[in-house]
Amino acid sequence: MKDLIKKAFALGGLIGLLSLPVGTAGIASAKTPKKPGIFTNSILKPGIVPQKTNAYNEKIKPLTTADCARCHKYEFNTLKEHGGKHRLKCTFCHTKFHVYNPTKHNWAEIMPKCTQCHPLVHGKQFADCEKCHTNPHAPIAEMKVSPWFAKQCAKCHPTEYEETIKYPSKHTKIGCTACHHTVHGYIPKCAECHKGKPHYSCVPTDKGCERCHNPHEPLNIPPFPKNTPNKVCAACHPVEYKKIETTKSKHHLVACVQCHPRHKYIPKCTECHPHPHSEALLKKYPNCLQCHIDVHNLPVAAPGK
Ligand code: HEC
Ligand code: HEC
Ligand code: HEC
Ligand code: HEC
Ligand code: HEC
Ligand code: HEC
Ligand code: HEC
Ligand code: HEC
Ligand code: HEC
Ligand code: HEC
Ligand code: HEC
Ligand code: HEC
Repeated sequence: MKDLIKKAFALGGLIGLLSLPVGTAGIASAKTPKKPGIFTNSILKPGIVPQKTNAYNEKIKPLTTADCARCHKYEFNTLKEHGGKHRLKCTFCHTKFHVYNPTKHNWAEIMPKCTQCHPLVHGKQFADCEKCHTNPHAPIAEMKVSPWFAKQCAKCHPTEYEETIKYPSKHTKIGCTACHHTVHGYIPKCAECHKGKPHYSCVPTDKGCERCHNPHEPLNIPPFPKNTPNKVCAACHPVEYKKIETTKSKHHLVACVQCHPRHKYIPKCTECHPHPHSEALLKKYPNCLQCHIDVHNLPVAAPGK
């Protein structure tokens, strides 16, 4: 403190002189012997020690984003974790803040507008940005799906929409947001709705389901994966499954999906047995099963024949 005062005097000048009274008030009263006057005592009660500060000499800087975060932890953390490209300075958007006055109803007026910075990104039909981008601090990650939003899916996702129309199923009836609920982009697990029913238990993971069911056209089943175990078919075709498992014929070595590579496809025997017998015999008996009876359980001689 003494150094400061010295410097101030050495500098002379207005600034030094002005700062002097503030800095030296206490010291002056302590050193000067008491003069009789109106104030007989100290102006402070005993035990009160003034806390001094240099703050009044500092140049005040605008609040930084970290400063805002001290009080607005929630907004800061939302931006930090889910803000994406909106992780900008708070004051880049909030040029006005702490001026909300309920009696003036000025909330909308002081809040940043999307269209200040963005054009009509998706065209005129989607001009009301906040109907979908429900949280400006998480503009993509948290788009809550409202009933109105649910009616707009097809405009941006015509492919998925058309799949559900072209291949009608019960998934067409439940609608997009029965599955893609809560927030835009949410992907459901099949098990959310399908639990403890036949054949699913044979498939270890949800991803397994999608090998046979595109969720948007679940009954349009693509060719079965080549490694599909017979058990997957067993839940719905227990009779054929049991026969193949127990048959004495060599067809027990053939997987269901080797003969039925697509669902409901019936193979011709000659795909695998091109010339089993003489032409004459096959002309006389065009249906192999007239003699071989049951493809899933061919009658054969005892093993070791
Ligand atoms: C990209 C622009 C943008 C940025 C960056 C931004 N905000 Fe916001 N903020 C908005 C908009 C728009 C609203 C208005 C929401 C509404 O209408 O209720 C808002 C609302 C708010 C509100 C009012 C309460 C609420 O959550 O709706 C607070 C508080 C707030 N922001 C704090 C912050 C803080 C703190 C930061 C920085 C950590 C920040 N904002 C960064 C755009 C932004
Ligand atoms: C010392 C705490 C504190 C700091 C620092 C602070 N705020 Fe606030 N802010 C508040 C309080 C309290 C409210 C009113 C209650 C509420 O909305 O949470 C508020 C309200 C707001 C609002 C909504 C109402 C309005 O009048 O604007 C916005 C936007 C906002 N603050 C932005 C900011 C920004 C941006 C910063 C940093 C530049 C910031 N605040 C720094 C405490 C703070
Ligand atoms: C003060 C300017 C400003 C305001 C106001 C603003 N934004 Fe942005 N927004 C930006 C900037 C800057 C980017 C990043 C652009 C870039 O990096 O390409 C951005 C990016 C985005 C993105 C892409 C985010 C990502 O992570 O990919 C979305 C979505 C978005 N804004 C929506 C909105 C919506 C909705 C509003 C109104 C609630 C809004 N913005 C208000 C400046 C703003
Ligand atoms: C019908 C709902 C809806 C409306 C209304 C809407 N958006 Fe979007 N917006 C979306 C969806 C959905 C995305 C894609 C999100 C994703 O990538 O996962 C998106 C993406 C964006 C992006 C990022 C684009 C990119 O290429 O990265 C910006 C920026 C954006 N919107 C701004 C706006 C602005 C500004 C408005 C208002 C003028 C607006 N949106 C209105 C639904 C909407
Ligand atoms: C304004 C256009 C727009 C609207 C409206 C829209 N989406 Fe999207 N959606 C997008 C864009 C853009 C993407 C990102 C595509 C990408 O990343 O390839 C996307 C991505 C998705 C994804 C994939 C997310 C992922 O992780 O792969 C799903 C699921 C989705 N949307 C469902 C919906 C549903 C359901 C609706 C109706 C509630 C809807 N969308 C409405 C534009 C839109
Ligand atoms: C039965 C539930 C269900 C319904 C109904 C549904 N989806 Fe999906 N959707 C999914 C699942 C599960 C995925 C993830 C697929 C994957 O990962 O292969 C998905 C993926 C998507 C994707 C990401 C791209 C893709 O094809 O993988 C978009 C976009 C999408 N859905 C839009 C829609 C739209 C639009 C509708 C309504 C017309 C809709 N979905 C109806 C379950 C559903
Ligand atoms: C939001 C709930 C929901 C989700 C998630 C869901 N489904 Fe469904 N699914 C249903 C309903 C409801 C039905 C009709 C059930 C009934 O009538 O018994 C159905 C029926 C089906 C059908 C028969 C379709 C028909 O028209 O008979 C198949 C196949 C199917 N789901 C497969 C899947 C697969 C695979 C997944 C995951 C990719 C999945 N589902 C995810 C709700 C869902
Ligand atoms: C190897 C192929 C395959 C796999 C993997 C598969 N499915 Fe299926 N699923 C089918 C076939 C084939 C049908 C019969 C379709 C028909 O009736 O035309 C079917 C029918 C269904 C049905 C409607 C009939 C019923 O029993 O209710 C539902 C629901 C279903 N599957 C859900 C699932 C789920 C969930 C998974 C994953 C856990 C799954 N599927 C995995 C082939 C498969
Ligand atoms: C979820 C039940 C389900 C599963 C799993 C399933 N199917 Fe089917 N399958 C059906 C239904 C339902 C039919 C139609 C029955 C009818 O039309 O009488 C059918 C029909 C068939 C047919 C044609 C029957 C005919 O009379 O033309 C064959 C072949 C077939 N399935 C093979 C398989 C094979 C191979 C698997 C395993 C890879 C399998 N299925 C898995 C339900 C299923
Ligand atoms: C060696 C080839 C072959 C194998 C292996 C095979 N199938 Fe077949 N399957 C056929 C032929 C051929 C038919 C037509 C039979 C007819 O016309 O009577 C058929 C018919 C069916 C049918 C229609 C109903 C019926 O019995 O006629 C179902 C369901 C079926 N198979 C399911 C299965 C299942 C499930 C498996 C595995 C457990 C399986 N098949 C293994 C060749 C095979
Ligand atoms: C996807 C191929 C495939 C189809 C389709 C097929 N088979 Fe076979 N079949 C085989 C194989 C593999 C063997 C075992 C051959 C071996 O090991 O020598 C076999 C063996 C046989 C045998 C000898 C059985 C034994 O145990 O010695 C007869 C008989 C037979 N098939 C009849 C038929 C008839 C009849 C049909 C049509 C209804 C048919 N197969 C359809 C693949 C097929
Ligand atoms: C008139 C009755 C009859 C007809 C029709 C017939 N088969 Fe056979 N097939 C037999 C007899 C009998 C055997 C010898 C059985 C044995 O060796 O156990 C045999 C054997 C076979 C074998 C096993 C050959 C081997 O080397 O072990 C195959 C494969 C076969 N037949 C396929 C076919 C196919 C495919 C058709 C239709 C295109 C067909 N058969 C039609 C009676 C017939």
